[in-house]
Amino acid sequence: MAVKVYVLLAMLMFAGIVSPIAHAQLIGGIGNLSNTVLSILGLVPCNVGIPFSTSNFFPNAVVQLRCNVTVVASTTTNSIGLFSIQTASPFGQLGDLIGNCNITVATPLVTCNPSLPTTANLASVLTFVNSTIGGLITNLVAVNFTIFEGITN
Ligand SMILES: *[C@@H]1O[C@H](CO)[C@@H](O)[C@H](O)[C@H]1NC(C)=O
Ligand SMILES: *[C@@H]1O[C@H](CO)[C@@H](O)[C@H](O)[C@H]1NC(C)=O
Ligand SMILES: *[C@@H]1O[C@H](CO)[C@@H](O)[C@H](O)[C@H]1NC(C)=O
Ligand SMILES: *[C@@H]1O[C@H](CO)[C@@H](O)[C@H](O)[C@H]1NC(C)=O
Ligand SMILES: *[C@@H]1O[C@H](CO)[C@@H](O)[C@H](O)[C@H]1NC(C)=O
Repeated sequence: MAVKVYVLLAMLMFAGIVSPIAHAQLIGGIGNLSNTVLSILGLVPCNVGIPFSTSNFFPNAVVQLRCNVTVVASTTTNSIGLFSIQTASPFGQLGDLIGNCNITVATPLVTCNPSLPTTANLASVLTFVNSTIGGLITNLVAVNFTIFEGITN
């Protein structure tokens, strides 16, 4: 199961890396988020610093979109550690969104991996993938989770 999820994410990242701008026909111009819904997809690992393909994933974890410390949206990972957040953008510009927001995991890490520090949390930056349905949806992924102490962004 973990391998299938890894393949899915690899495909998403591949799509993002190959043509990050080609699909960005945003309604108000490239990077203008005022009339789009953000769709953020991610996979929360129980380990960091090792490849996704060898990691376990974090089921039933509370995941938050945080911008400038404030929680903008929140959801829970499914049984295989996948999550999806749909929300309006708190910023009008893609650069501001990516520069000021993180995906943070509120559920203590030890729940998933007892060898990780009890005070630590996970956070990932957002990576733009593409823009679909004529710019109505802006797709991003959170696939770069690292351990941090304290509140991030
Ligand atoms: C972004 O798009 C909206 C809606 O099309 C438009 O009203 C606004 O002027 C645009 N903002 C910028 C900075 O281009
Ligand atoms: C978020 O923080 C950045 C950098 O400190 C600042 O430029 C921006 O105005 C803040 N935005 C909001 C909505 O608070
Ligand atoms: C949070 O997001 C900011 C802005 O993208 C980034 O500089 C920072 O490294 C992120 N922190 C973590 C722990 O991912
Ligand atoms: C855009 O990204 C979404 C989600 O990340 C993906 O499912 C879709 O195939 C991508 N579309 C294009 C045209 O690349
Ligand atoms: C992922 O995180 C690492 C370490 O913080 C950083 O060097 C790298 O640039 C990040 N990659 C992306 C796509 O954000």
